[in-house]
Amino acid sequence: MHGCLGLIVGRRFLTKREVELKQYFGVKHVFLLASGKTALATTVRALSAISPRRKVVIPAYTCFTVPSAVIRGGGHVELCDVNPHTLDFVFADLERVVDRETLCIIVPHLLGHCANVQRVRDLAAALGVAVVEDAAQAMGVKDEDRFLGTQGDVGVFSLGRGKNLSAGSGGILLTNSDQIASAVAAVIQEMPEPPLLHQVFNLMMMVAMKVLIHPRLYWLPAGLPFLGLGETHFDLDFPLQRLDGVRAGLLRAWQQRLMRSNVERANKGQAYNMALPPEMKTLVPGQVQTSTLLRFPLLLPGGEHKSALCRQSKQDGMGVSGLYPSAIAAIPQLRSAFDGRRFPGAETLAERLITLPVHHYVQPQDIQAICRTVSNVIQHEMPPSQSHARAVQSEGHGERQVLL
Ligand SMILES: Cc1ncc(COP(=O)(O)O)c(C=O)c1O
Repeated sequence: MHGCLGLIVGRRFLTKREVELKQYFGVKHVFLLASGKTALATTVRALSAISPRRKVVIPAYTCFTVPSAVIRGGGHVELCDVNPHTLDFVFADLERVVDRETLCIIVPHLLGHCANVQRVRDLAAALGVAVVEDAAQAMGVKDEDRFLGTQGDVGVFSLGRGKNLSAGSGGILLTNSDQIASAVAAVIQEMPEPPLLHQVFNLMMMVAMKVLIHPRLYWLPAGLPFLGLGETHFDLDFPLQRLDGVRAGLLRAWQQRLMRSNVERANKGQAYNMALPPEMKTLVPGQVQTSTLLRFPLLLPGGEHKSALCRQSKQDGMGVSGLYPSAIAAIPQLRSAFDGRRFPGAETLAERLITLPVHHYVQPQDIQAICRTVSNVIQHEMPPSQSHARAVQSEGHGERQVLL
């Protein structure tokens, strides 16, 4: 209903959401955009208007939309390796690649795991480099008492499917800097208003997804390849638009929804921690035990374990999957730019990282069954033939490679 109302009083909803977000995050400026990648591209464009620098350092293992947003924003992609055991930058590598040509560093909070923003800030401050927190997967998550996304010069969130808070799609850009905010406002000023027909289409898609997201029905959208559910693409051709009124309407009562979603994810994460046999606890990267995770990561001993587990998951509908299909340097359109350079941490993650579902359709018995299957696969035993075949692959969490 509020989505429909957004067709009529969208401007009012947009202003209300901006005020609410400013209050919630305690920041001076909030901008609402059509997607997380649009927010990242807008950030790069705005920073480029303030500085002649163009080099943008991003993690060598992240969502494929990150390099596409950087290029769309007019930046040059530079990669820094990721430590597979912390999911954060390899800091020795970061010190090497960041220099006085660097416009900004895009800090990952992969799967909601808190990156060490302070360490990046210290390095960046010495060289006059901006720090952008990519908190697309970490909305509402705190590092001690500060929200992720509020420690850098700019913070970006995604409202895409399967995120902490979703409006089907959408993006949020936060900053406390007046200078950056006016540069962002100037970039957004140039963006066209979202067409009405597009808004109606978005609304229909959102209603359809709301119905079809149920595990009993998810096979239907998952079986339509043109929807591309759960896939990640390197695509430079995405619309640079503002958030529309329909989505602003759909975000009504977002604080409660975000809190519920994050509490649920944190509880499911804890349940995995408890259900994992002791010898498998060492496979959990970093300090994710204490975080609110979008999906629960495990770094398996070998690529063959990952393939076997993903196959088993596909068969049983467990919703276990890899994250991104390759390191950024292996994306065909980017490969030549990084010819010959190796990113061992990123390659390890692409080869061996699996993620377990934590969304609200996952039941305690699913968690037990998933942990048993993971354990069996690692021990090279046949996974149980009859595991809980609950269709926990909703929220876009099917068996394909990327499921956020
Ligand atoms: C880490 C990361 N950054 C950026 C994005 C882009 O967000 P959106 O899908 O809203 O464009 C995503 C989306 O999945 C993401 O996972």
